[in-house]
Amino acid sequence: MRKKIVAGNWKMNTTVAEGIELAKAVVAKSADVPCDVTLIVGTPFTHLCPVAEALKGSKVELSAENCADKEKGAYTGEVSAAMVASTGASWTILGHSERRQYYGETDEKLVEKTKLALANGLGVIFCVGENLDEREAGKHFDVVTDQTKAVLYNFTAEDMAKVVIAYEPVWAIGTGKTATAEQAEEIHACIRKVVADKFGAQVAEDMTILYGGSCKPSNAKEIFAQPDIDGGLIGGAALKAEDFIAIAMSY
Ligand code: 13P
Repeated sequence: MRKKIVAGNWKMNTTVAEGIELAKAVVAKSADVPCDVTLIVGTPFTHLCPVAEALKGSKVELSAENCADKEKGAYTGEVSAAMVASTGASWTILGHSERRQYYGETDEKLVEKTKLALANGLGVIFCVGENLDEREAGKHFDVVTDQTKAVLYNFTAEDMAKVVIAYEPVWAIGTGKTATAEQAEEIHACIRKVVADKFGAQVAEDMTILYGGSCKPSNAKEIFAQPDIDGGLIGGAALKAEDFIAIAMSY
């Protein structure tokens, strides 16, 4: 069954104390959100344990923003999927464009990260999206198709039950520019077809595909109304509990 999900990606924002406060504010308002909408907050590694505590007993689920491509050992500064899972988080975001762009995340690394996340029981929010040059050159369908195939085609149909795809056009992230509902829908439909081609129609039908990129309370309703858009991955607006919840209530 396809899920509706509204997930926050806090990125590198908030101190631990601020993060706990934000998580508590999200929990306090979460009862207003329809029960068929899954709420997830994605926090920095340092915040996972205390935020897990703040979310206890609530419907809000917890995600990391990344995990290592190695299982364990001498990899200074890295945080493994097993470590993420041990905090109480049940998800990790992988392949965010900021990771691809600033930290050299390659498809090969993302395959390893996805393997380890799934092996440790984490759900994966796998991000794809074209940059402005690629869109202007008319390559957006090819870029998201290639990004999706390069990583997810290494997995099985059963694995896909634990994977959510987030389409995040890089030119819309943090810019205030949102893809139009039509632009987002046509890419989501394309991604669903790429999933269907490898894993079959039922897996594609069940796949949750989120939109990310300047999603806010004022535009969420129109975006979420599209048939292939199953929710959002929210950056800036997730840092304010009332905006995050207002987006989740746009269903
Ligand atoms: P903004 O909502 O701030 O544009 O960020 C989107 C994003 O990158 C979520 O992962």
